[in-house]
Formats: sequence, structure tokens, C-alpha cells
Amino acid sequence: MTQRKILVTSALPYANGAIHLGHLVEYIQTDIWVRFQKQRGNDCYYVCADDAHGTPIMLKADRDGITPEELITEVGKSHFADFSEFGITFDNYHCTHSPENKTLSELVYTRLRDAGHISSRTITQAFDPVKNMFLPDRFIKGDCPKCGAKDQYGDGCEVCGANYSPTDLKNAVSAVSGATPIEKESEHYFFNLANFTQMLRDWTTAGHLQAEVRNKLAEWLESGLQQWDISRDAPYFGFEIPDAPNKYFYVWLDAPIGYMASFQNLCDKTDLKFDDFWGIDSDVELYHFIGKDIIYFHALFWPAMLKGANFRTPDAIFAHGFLTVNGEKMSKSRGTFITARTYLDHLNPEYLRYYFAAKLSNSVDDLDLNFDDFSQRVNSDLVGKVVNIASRCSGFIRKKFDNKLSATCVEPELFTEFIAANETIAESYENREFGKAMREIMALADKANQYIDDKKPWAIAKEEGKEAELHDVCSVAINLFRILAAYLKPVLPMLTSEAEVFLNAPITTWIDALQPLVNHELQDFKPLMTRVEADKIAAIIEASKTDLLKA
Ligand code: MSP
Ligand code: ZN
Repeated sequence: MTQRKILVTSALPYANGAIHLGHLVEYIQTDIWVRFQKQRGNDCYYVCADDAHGTPIMLKADRDGITPEELITEVGKSHFADFSEFGITFDNYHCTHSPENKTLSELVYTRLRDAGHISSRTITQAFDPVKNMFLPDRFIKGDCPKCGAKDQYGDGCEVCGANYSPTDLKNAVSAVSGATPIEKESEHYFFNLANFTQMLRDWTTAGHLQAEVRNKLAEWLESGLQQWDISRDAPYFGFEIPDAPNKYFYVWLDAPIGYMASFQNLCDKTDLKFDDFWGIDSDVELYHFIGKDIIYFHALFWPAMLKGANFRTPDAIFAHGFLTVNGEKMSKSRGTFITARTYLDHLNPEYLRYYFAAKLSNSVDDLDLNFDDFSQRVNSDLVGKVVNIASRCSGFIRKKFDNKLSATCVEPELFTEFIAANETIAESYENREFGKAMREIMALADKANQYIDDKKPWAIAKEEGKEAELHDVCSVAINLFRILAAYLKPVLPMLTSEAEVFLNAPITTWIDALQPLVNHELQDFKPLMTRVEADKIAAIIEASKTDLLKA
């Protein structure tokens, strides 16, 4: 197997709010895939960053009475802590408000400008005369022009579902100051996306996208590509545009460049070379994991920007669906808007990693976290099937055989069968069919338990002169358990590392290279995972309702 070079990203979370379980679908999905690649021996890097710019972040800092820099530093730390405790391990975690990102954003912009892809013109927008700032649609509120519902946002009505522009709102006010917005002109800079129509037609149909995503893009391309407004007026928290004082890059211009900036920051700390990964002739595989809500930015703007600025384009965009909880959109009042921190206060993070893995496929379908199903799957698969193999057999090995496995593997066929499954399971992981991989692994776990049920070590242990058989049966079972742990390692890094301690043998490679442990001394077995307790789930829901009161 030749070693692949791979660079992987997850979308950059906004630096104005906590990581929640919806976000974690993405970061856990990406982390599993990256861990799988590393376990396979590939040279794989996972970079991410906080997305620190834009009006909401500026205004939140304002409300909190701190500077945007203070806000993003604080939030950045909490994001990183949440990710770490969920076992999400980045090769680098950076911030878009960084020198690397400033330099690269200016570089991309000037290259696009010099190649004729930027133009400017004057537009009219809503302006808050008290705050002295232009108002994004989301910061204008008023009565819906269609149904009259009060207190609706400038871009659409949450009551009747109508979409409109903020100038259509009745009794519009600025959500920032309460003042009535006025209309004001200003010069804006635009990226001429239409210059890339042919390039994007080719790129979006060349195998870089999932089928559903490709179809969506075909529709967008069909309806014609508009100029993209990439500038914002001061006051704005972002980077000033080099040749346009008081104009700032719109947050979505520098956000994806943040992928490059985080990688640049990694290069500065290691001997990795930026151009090997981002240069036009790069042979490194580049993948972006994102949610389905930001496909437009990643599958249209981003490849066009990269192309226009003479960088390589991604090999694939992997979009996933949205998380619902108990069948509904996450809701603060129902207590199902659950932050990573609230979850961590009550439950083992690896329960969630396993549950998401079991539910994930490579489609953009939404996935549901149903707490009954969650408990049942974790309890029955991980505790009842996988960990149970080790707990059923380790006691005999310790008590009767000084914690040492027998000298030969007496079921080489069974061992080989477990190893042989590695190709199918690897293929499922590789294709982001994690649910399929988990089912394949659990089918093996069933087989291992069946083997134990058939051999009945607890019965053999009671018979005279059957020590050798007892030793062999338990040793086989422990070896099968080890293969399962190795298969689950990308999903359950913490459980696996404890299993490695118990087994007294590290798992450093993909499964095809595993040899049976014979004549090998184990460490004492400690319970590797306990059952999900129903009261913990109730506590999470309760705490999420109180989070709401605090907010
Ligand atoms: N800052 C932008 C991304 C810039 S990437 C250059 C952003 N941030 S976000 O915090 O809103 O979302 C980060 C990622 O989490 C996105 O890919 C988004 O789709 C994903 N999710 C946010 N809520 C989600 C769910 N409820 N369910 C699944 N994924 C979700 O977008
Ligand atoms: Zn309405």
C-alpha cells in the first residue's frame, strides 16, 4: 500500500457561541475519518480554526462590554477545550483573525483583482443612523409584509415562511439600536463569479461532490451566477481591504482562506511545505468536511477563488446533514439545544462518538439523536457486546493463569476470519459509511460472543483437568476482543487506549498487520465502559433548559 498524503478540514466554527451537539456531528465525523487514515499509515493532517470575523461577533463583544479580540480569545479557548474532551484531535487549531490569514487573504484578493475578477459599484443598503453602521438583513426587524407578524427578521418571516428583502418590512427598526433604518449608498467590491461559470460547470461534475450536492449545484449554475459582494463598511470586525480604506473583507471571503492560514501556521511549526499542499501542482489530497447549509460557499465560491488566485482546488467536499434531537430541530425550550459542555458534565463523550458513527453515512441526510435509541445502542453494542467479551474472559486468565495468554492460538481460522474482514471495514470507513462499518464490526462482536457461548468457559472452569482448554478459549476470546478494539479505534480512541493498557500491547497499525498475542502477559482488567444511565440524560435536558435562562 503506498502512503497517501492527505489534508483534511472541518468548517470553522463561529467564535461567538458554544459548540453544541449539532456541530459535533461534523467534528466527530471528520476526526473519525482522519484517525482512520492515520491508523492506515497515511500521512494525514487535520486543520481547523475559529471563524472570528463579522458583524455578529463585533456586536456580541459590544454587548458583553469587551473587545472582539477578547471575545474570540475566550471563545476560542472554550471551543478547543470542548473538542479535546470529545477526543477531536487537530494537527492544528488556529483563528481567522491571525497574521497568516491576513497575509493570505490579501494575497488571494490581489491575485483575483489583478486577474480582473473584482469590480466595484455603489449600492444602497439599510443604515442605522444611531449606531452609524450598515445593517445586515438579520439585524433589521419589523412586521412581516405578508402576514403582519410582529418582530420578524429582515430576510424572512418565521411565522408564514415568506422570504423578502428588509426594505419590504413594515415598521422596520434596527435590532441594534431600535432606530428606524435609513437608506444609504456605499461603494462595494464584488467577486465576478460568472467569470468561472465554465470552470465550475466542469469542476462540479468531475467527481468532487456527492450526487445530491451535484444536482443542487446544477440548478444554481442553471439559474446563472451573480456577482458576490465581498466587502463591508466600517465598523466591521475583519481585515481591511488593501486598496480600499475603511472597507473590510466580508467574513466569508477570509473564512475558507482560514483553512490555508491554519495550515500555514502548522508549516511554521514543522517542516511541512505550504506549496506542496496548496500549490497548483500539488499531489496531496485535499478534503473539506462541511454541513449542508454552507455548500454554496464551498462548492462555488471557494473553488472559483482558488482557481482565480492560482491555487489548487479541493479533491472533494464532503457535506453532511443536520442533527435533530428526538425527531425535532434542537430547541432551547425543550432542553434539546445541548452544548458540548453540558453533555460532558454528565456523559462519556465516547457514547456520542459511537452513536454518531453508528448513524452516519456519506449522504447529506439529516440524522436524529434519539435518546432512547442512544442508550439502547451504546448499552447493547459497546457494553453488552464488545466490552463484555473482555470482562467475561479476563477474570479466568488472571485468576488461573497469572494473567498470561496461552502459548498458541487454537482457533486460527476464527482469528483469520476476523482479520479478513478488514478490507470491507476499511472500505466502509474510507467511504464515510461509518454506520455500515459499525454494523460490520458488531457482527464480528456477535460472533465472538457466540464463540464464548458455545465454549462456556464458566462451565469448563468447573471441570477437572480442563485447564488447558479454559486457557485456550479465553485467550482466543481476548484476541478477538483486541481485533474489535483495533477496528473501533478511530471511533473510540479513549476506550481503545485503555484496552491497549489492559492488553499490554499497543495497536499502532491497521488490522491486517495484527498478529495473535500468545504467551503474552496482560494487565489487570478494569471495566472499560459502563452503561448509559437514564437519569444522566434527564439531567442533561434539565441543565439545557437552565442554560437558556442564563443566556
Ligand atoms: N463559520 C462558518 C463556517 C466557515 S468555514 C470556512 C459556520 N460556522 S458554524 O459554527 O455555524 O457551523 C460550523 C459547522 O457546523 C458547519 O459545517 C455547520 O453546517 C455545522 N453545523 C452547525 N449546526 C449543525 C447541526 N445542527 N447539525 C449538523 N451540523 C451543524 O458555518
Ligand atoms: Zn409572515
